[in-house]
Amino acid sequence: MATRDIAVARTVAGLREAVAGWRARQERVGLVPTMGALHRGHLALVAAARRDCPRVVASLFVNPKQFGPREDFAAYPRDEAADLAKFREGGVDLVFAPTVGEMYPGGFATAVQVAGLGDAMEGAHRHGHFDGVATVVSKLLLQCVPDIAYFGEKDYQQLMVVRRMARDLDIPVRIEGVPTVREPDGLALSSRNVYLSPEERQVAPLLHRVLHDTAIAIAAAPDTVTANIEKGLAVLRQAGFMPDYLEMRDAADLSPMTALDRPARLLAAARLGRTRLIDNIPVMPR
Ligand code: PAJ
Repeated sequence: MATRDIAVARTVAGLREAVAGWRARQERVGLVPTMGALHRGHLALVAAARRDCPRVVASLFVNPKQFGPREDFAAYPRDEAADLAKFREGGVDLVFAPTVGEMYPGGFATAVQVAGLGDAMEGAHRHGHFDGVATVVSKLLLQCVPDIAYFGEKDYQQLMVVRRMARDLDIPVRIEGVPTVREPDGLALSSRNVYLSPEERQVAPLLHRVLHDTAIAIAAAPDTVTANIEKGLAVLRQAGFMPDYLEMRDAADLSPMTALDRPARLLAAARLGRTRLIDNIPVMPR
């Protein structure tokens, strides 16, 4: 079970056995779901879990169900040895790294779908993506049944979809959001940043800058949402991005907003060459 001092469970039974031992001793358990290719963003989730919970489980599973047929499932960066070392360094007690066959045995037929929240933005541009996410996350929550599970605000719509799903299905797990970890120039850390060429890497932080500038402009003139979003999209296109969307949404239920009259979130996705970047920031009315 041990790989260089970190315990790895490959089966649901192995995961449940370890967690049952901690539960018997009344130890709180935190879960950090990941697809690996770990960076400081993932490790911020581990650190948050460590602050709240004496036991931390991290999962490492590149979930085929959340990738579209033309997406990067096969090419997704995988380096299990490096990921295990990073989890160990971060203080993870157990890594759950199942095979695709363990997660989705022959005959697997169930999907979890979060209507509404999962339809727009990422859901509109990546059909079926959130069904794949909600299905795998509901399985992970039920396999481990942690006290708290941690998700990054980097994937803000995903965080909202997961919260709704856990509530709707009465899964007794608290869902915690963790702020986005960024490079010094503002680029949100992402496993997909390795796809950027050196030239694209120079341009990439503009996505965050446009979100930031758009948020400031809207906060100063709360009725100018559409005009400022058009302006932001133009700046991105001018710099060579192909934006999928730039939208302002209610921070809690992601409903569309035409004026800044309550806490909001600006969310964007844009392609830069072959890399698709997403980011989001909060926008507060004055
Ligand atoms: P993955 O992209 O590996 O991300 C795992 C977790 O790390 C997610 O909750 C994500 O929001 C968070 N994360 C990624 N980059 C971050 C950053 N720069 N700052 C803070 N948190 C960041 O998201 C997934 O995997 C999958 O969809 C998963 C939830 C594991 C289900 O398969």
